[in-house]
Amino acid sequence: LARDNGKLWFGTAADIPGTAEQTDKDYLRILTNPKNFGEITPANMMKFMYTEPQQNVFNFTGGDYVLNLAEKNGMRVRCHNLVWSSQISDWVTSGTWTAATLTAVMKNHIYNLVTHWGNRCYSWDVVNEALNGDGTFSSSIWHDTIGPEYFFLAFQFAQEAVKKTGKDIKLYYNDYGLESPGTKTTAAYNLVKELQARKIQIDGVGLESHFKVGGTPSVAAQVTAKKEFLDLGVDVAITELDVRFVAAPYYTAAGEATQAQNYYDSVASCMQVGRRCRGITVWDFDDKYSWVPSAFTGQGGADIYNETLQRKPAYYAIAEAI
Ligand code: XIL
Repeated sequence: LARDNGKLWFGTAADIPGTAEQTDKDYLRILTNPKNFGEITPANMMKFMYTEPQQNVFNFTGGDYVLNLAEKNGMRVRCHNLVWSSQISDWVTSGTWTAATLTAVMKNHIYNLVTHWGNRCYSWDVVNEALNGDGTFSSSIWHDTIGPEYFFLAFQFAQEAVKKTGKDIKLYYNDYGLESPGTKTTAAYNLVKELQARKIQIDGVGLESHFKVGGTPSVAAQVTAKKEFLDLGVDVAITELDVRFVAAPYYTAAGEATQAQNYYDSVASCMQVGRRCRGITVWDFDDKYSWVPSAFTGQGGADIYNETLQRKPAYYAIAEAI
């Protein structure tokens, strides 16, 4: 439906290889069915700790696995991510750096990943989760060592690396809490404007959209936030959609109906702003492998398939919204 309706993608995160998902035939059958998904985002395998486990020693195996699987099945890949506060190698976090030496590390990492995979990546999330809720830059080794300039340097290095490839690779800033108007959304808007003022490439903003059942912003709020970004001339995408229950039970008819409406609202907001909301990615599609229970104690039931890989009402609500 998404493909037919304006060349959007509907995709999913997948945490492969090296996990139970990799050998779960039922999981893989759903993942690779082109009627379900036209895009994959590697949940982990392109992150710093996996791609540069030792300084200047690169490991592309996990990322290659995802790209090969996606290409075999005609799916595109949003490559995720180049610069983030989490899942960084120990040699970085425990190293002694000056702004100059850490900037060189960041540049080398960005150049290597972007040039290695080229336009097998539809896009890169260049900086992930840069902002606090109050609109200030969040703490990370990058920010705390290099200063706020790290954000602009990351995009500058990504742009230079894209130029080296000679390919069309979209560069995104990806974060949560940008899905409705507010302080953080305004701060993100200003970061885009600053990049543009400096003539540094930014093509889109990823709105993660990790929501709670009953606590998902309205369609109107989500439309307004998306339009703010689109008005600047950048694309938007829903990049990590899930709608979690904050407490059990996760599988009551009433709960699933609210959850389905919440999924509907998010997807509808993307459809309503037109084709420059490029696509929607769920942060894995099933409660069997969802990241939610390990990240938020007691919470779960967030995905569109349940723990036995059966479709939930949210699956059908999404189809209706598209
Ligand atoms: C999560 C993965 O899904 C987990 O497997 C991992 O343990 C932690 O990271 N925002 C992001 C993603 O941008 O990279 C995170 O992925 C979820 C929150």
